Amino acid sequence: MNYLLTGGYGCIGSWIAKNLLAQGHDVSIFDLVEDPRRMSLIMPPEDVARIKFIQGDITDGQAITQATEHTGAIHIIHLAGLQVPVCKMDPIKGAMVNVIGTLNVLETASTLIDQVKRVVYASSGAVYGMEEEYGTGPVSNDAQLKPLTHYGVFKQCNEGNARVAFLDRGVSSIGLRPWTVYGPGRDFGLTSDPTKAVKAALLGRKFAIKFGGRNNMQYVRDTADIFIRCTRAEFQGAEAYSIRGDVVDIDEIISAIEDVVPEAKGLITHTSNIIPIAPDLDGSRLEAEIGDIVHTPLADGIRDTFDIFRACHVSGNLNATDLDE
Ligand SMILES: NC(=O)c1ccc[n+]([C@@H]2O[C@H](COP(=O)([O-])OP(=O)(O)OC[C@H]3O[C@@H](n4cnc5c(N)ncnc54)[C@H](O)[C@@H]3O)[C@@H](O)[C@H]2O)c1
Repeated sequence: MNYLLTGGYGCIGSWIAKNLLAQGHDVSIFDLVEDPRRMSLIMPPEDVARIKFIQGDITDGQAITQATEHTGAIHIIHLAGLQVPVCKMDPIKGAMVNVIGTLNVLETASTLIDQVKRVVYASSGAVYGMEEEYGTGPVSNDAQLKPLTHYGVFKQCNEGNARVAFLDRGVSSIGLRPWTVYGPGRDFGLTSDPTKAVKAALLGRKFAIKFGGRNNMQYVRDTADIFIRCTRAEFQGAEAYSIRGDVVDIDEIISAIEDVVPEAKGLITHTSNIIPIAPDLDGSRLEAEIGDIVHTPLADGIRDTFDIFRACHVSGNLNATDLDE
């Protein structure tokens, strides 16, 4: 099958590309620049070379439609987007890329409705508000969305537009709401800090995670698997699903890193800032749709991340400039 990944050179896209290639599919990437930096951490050069790159900006509707038609993609996995800090600094740009960009993808799927079977797109746990808003226990998939960032509002808007695209023109879509995706390739955005902390521990450097409190940690390989499985679900409609990973306190994340790298004890610290998103999300609606999801426990995900970083470090392929941002 033919897959088109928008923003496919990002962290999640790199893992989706890796998994799809391993399953024998054709993968095209629509992105601003050809940048296989993250992929090279997890894929041999001959696999990276199998990916077809189409340069384009997701705010350009014609470009994404032409790319989809040209590749003959049956599925679009839409990941292109700007993260929380950029949307905060420049909300207009954020809305152009995150909202208009997603509308362009939905319009493309509508124009090419006989070709494109499904759009699976990245929403975010940031559509929810603070934990206190929802009472105790996991927040239901259908709980009221109360985003507290422009980024979260844009993602909420995308979920609404996807619903309307189905109602008006039959575009089938699934939105997914990751929280903290961690693992090799995660090098940007507020919740990239746990991954950066693993890298810092490997390099024997001090690192302060810029938040505290509870997190919903999802290993990127599992997240990639969920996106791919959503393209294949027997489903017609427009739904958005929360993903539940390991809901843990920041100190548990630091302990998991120290268990893997005992010599890094004391190097990793954290602040007391709280990420304004309820971490404890109920993932049962997603599992009802696609079956049990693969769930790598935090300790194993941290170890995997460390092992991959270490192998790259040994071969001189580990970039650590993200630790200085
Ligand atoms: N990583 C997480 O923890 C997380 C959590 C929730 C939601 N998400 C969402 O998942 C998606 C992918 O996340 P990621 O961590 O892989 O992000 P990332 O920042 O690593 O990658 C984003 C990709 O989008 C591309 N892009 C940006 N602007 C573009 C434009 N105008 N046109 C075309 N491509 C453009 C970038 O070049 C990059 O390759 C994003 O939409 C993000 O909001 C991620």
